[in-house]
This record gives sequence, structure tokens and C-alpha cells, in this order.
Amino acid sequence: MEKAVTERMDSFYHHYPAVATIVTSHAGGRDNAMAVAWHCALSRQPPVYMVAISPKRFSHGLIVESGEFAVNFIPYASAKLVALVGGCSGRDVDKLKAFGLACVPSHKVKAPVLEAAYAAYECRVVGRHATGDHDAFFGEIVAVHHRPAAYGSGRVMDLEQMQPILYLGDDLYTVVSTEAPVCLERQSLVRGALGR
Ligand SMILES: Cc1cc2nc3c(=O)[nH]c(=O)nc-3n(C[C@H](O)[C@H](O)[C@H](O)COP(=O)(O)O)c2cc1C
Repeated sequence: MEKAVTERMDSFYHHYPAVATIVTSHAGGRDNAMAVAWHCALSRQPPVYMVAISPKRFSHGLIVESGEFAVNFIPYASAKLVALVGGCSGRDVDKLKAFGLACVPSHKVKAPVLEAAYAAYECRVVGRHATGDHDAFFGEIVAVHHRPAAYGSGRVMDLEQMQPILYLGDDLYTVVSTEAPVCLERQSLVRGALGR
């Protein structure tokens, strides 16, 4: 397939879809929530998760002040919550109250954990790196919440039970296919491909 090449990054959507999450924070008596699509796991031991947050966001100040945040993985059925918290700032709106975001008790941090989430990581900031117009916050995961039903009998998400939100950019959201997952067992695949 032919590819177009450009050096201009006027849109930055080529790596999408990305799982859309809600990152919550708490400082100075204020709770807040924002949509975050730029996030990833960085280390298993210790478990470290990264969220990329622009210094323009109200959440940024709360996370710097408290040294804590929570990453809430929200099912597609509640995708509107992501658009709502991603559509206004905590500077102007008490989003948890205004949008009726129910919480469950957090275990180790003060950042709220959302009832709607099928999983959530409570994180303590262990590092911050300015990458450009966003800061990467590195959070050690100090507690994990999950709905066992979302993960079927094993550790793998059961897409018949729960659909993560895939963000396509431009305010478009979708779901992953529920086609039966294909198991590509890496060792035997490599052995087969190398004829060993
Ligand atoms: C789907 C979606 C994903 C987003 N991802 C990010 C992100 O990864 N990092 C970021 O800084 N802002 C992101 N935003 C923008 C913030 O969520 C938005 O500016 C929000 O209003 C900030 O809220 P706050 O000022 O209360 O912190 C995203 C918005 C949407 C709708």
C-alpha cells in the first residue's frame, strides 16, 4: 500500500486508536478528573505507569501538589464520562459533582477511584519528565482495583463482559472487535519460522 510522508505534525493521531481513561487527582480539598489517552506501562517491578499531562490542565497542578493520581479504565458503556471530563476544566467546574461521578474508597492515595471503572491504578509520583508540551508523570502503582467479572476466569480481559473505550481522535470513540482472540504463542511461532 502506498504511504504518504510528511514532516508536519499538525495532527498527532497516527498511533490511534488509544484506550481512553479518566485520570483523577486530589489536592487542597479539591477532587478532579480529566480524560487521558496518552498513558502506558513502563515497568513491572516496581510497577510503574506513565500518564502524559499538559501543564495547561488543572489536573497537572493537583498532581504536582499531591504527588498522586489514579488511572481509571472506563467501559465503553460509560464513554460519555470521558468526553464530559475531557471537555471542561476543573478550574471552572467541580466535575465529579456536576457529572455525578460516583467513587469507591481509595486504598493508598487521596485521588478518587471511580465506581464506573472496570480497573483502576492508584499511583504515587516517582518521577516527572518534561517531554515538550506535555509532562510525563511516572507513577508507582500502589494499589489496583478491578472488577473480577471483567477478566473472566484468567488475567485476560473478557470482551464479552466489558469493552474498553478506543479513542480515534476528533471526538470519535469505538470498541474492539469481539471476534475470538487468536493465540499466537510466541516461542513456538519463532521456532516454526526459524525451522527449529
Ligand atoms: C479522549 C480524550 C483524551 C485526552 N487525552 C489527554 C492526554 O492524554 N493528556 C492531556 O494532557 N490532555 C488530554 N485530554 C484533554 C483533557 O482531558 C482536557 O483538556 C481536560 O479538560 C483537562 O481537565 P482539567 O483542566 O480539569 O485537568 C484528552 C481529552 C479527551 C477528550
